[in-house]
Amino acid sequence: MFEMMVGADYSGKVVFVAGGTSGINLGIAEAYASAGAKLAVLSRSPERVSEAVTRLSNDAETCIGFAADVRDRPAVDKAFADAAEALGPIDIVVSGAAGNFIVEAADISANGFKTVVDIDLVGTFNVFHASLPHLRKPGASLIAISAPQGARPQFGQVHVCAAKAGVNMVVRCLALEWGPLGIRVNGISPGLVGGTEGQKRLFTSEEQEARFIRDLPLGRLGKNDDIAAAAIYLSSDSANFVNGVILDCDGGLSLAEGGYSFRSALS
Ligand code: NAP
Ligand code: COA
Repeated sequence: MFEMMVGADYSGKVVFVAGGTSGINLGIAEAYASAGAKLAVLSRSPERVSEAVTRLSNDAETCIGFAADVRDRPAVDKAFADAAEALGPIDIVVSGAAGNFIVEAADISANGFKTVVDIDLVGTFNVFHASLPHLRKPGASLIAISAPQGARPQFGQVHVCAAKAGVNMVVRCLALEWGPLGIRVNGISPGLVGGTEGQKRLFTSEEQEARFIRDLPLGRLGKNDDIAAAAIYLSSDSANFVNGVILDCDGGLSLAEGGYSFRSALS
């Protein structure tokens, strides 16, 4: 479980994590649960949802799960309505559902491109837009899980780059429009996090991975807790004047990304 940072207390807060049943997003959900929050998690697989709910809490009054696809807007609407009815007004929404695979632009199918844009970008809009009627206003905090691909092009990632760049713009536009309602909207751009599905999908060889890590300014991959700590900060009162930001939480990857973006990263 997450080693809580000093002073972080989310007792009584309600947190909804879309895609919160594995990897980085589950780590974020665990951090909020450790800090006393009530949790709702959503993802497609009923088994994953049930495992995550068991892990986050044994008490139906503090954790609830939804098996749904972020591309299915009526299902997302219903999940937020049910979560708010069961747990109360929603204080924090994390949108982290995503899909990824490496394929060069010339080879991706139209449906392959559309699938990732639908999950990452349309899914994030669906999650934030569906949450609006159920948010605590003022006071709610929305956090999108973006990626370095949203700011910089990478080989084999045209679909993810387009989708995450769109996610960054959803963050900024909603921060503008919903700021007056007392809702802050921010994003986190994690560096590569060890042991995750994303890491497995992005490296094609151990040699490539070792080269990548050697070039990182801090010389290591990220951990789930590193990203969770960024979420805990962004939704806290300490960040109450932070709005519309995409926080790079990547150990400096974004400063030294060249090797990762070059064609050689594909082999
Ligand atoms: P992961 O373990 O594969 O987690 C993805 C989560 O999203 C799972 O809970 C999955 O559960 C859910 N999901 C996928 N498609 C969905 C859909 N259509 N509708 C609803 N839920 C869906 O991935 P991860 O590597 O931890 O990445 C998590 C986030 O961090 C992503 O936004 C990713 O882009 C970002 N990120 C990751 C890295 C990294 O190093 N891993 C780096 C930068 C950014 P189901 O299969 O049950 O749906
Ligand atoms: N290379 C090229 N194209 C691929 C691909 C790959 N490795 N994997 C899937 N596609 C294409 C498929 O061929 C299909 O296009 P087509 O109909 O033209 O053949 C399209 O993408 C959709 O595939 P499908 O399997 O139906 O999508 P899905 O909605 O069931 O699953 C994925 C979405 C493909 C993103 C799947 O990998 C997934 O669920 N990922 C979630 C976990 C994840 O990616 N985590 C890392 C986050 S960083």
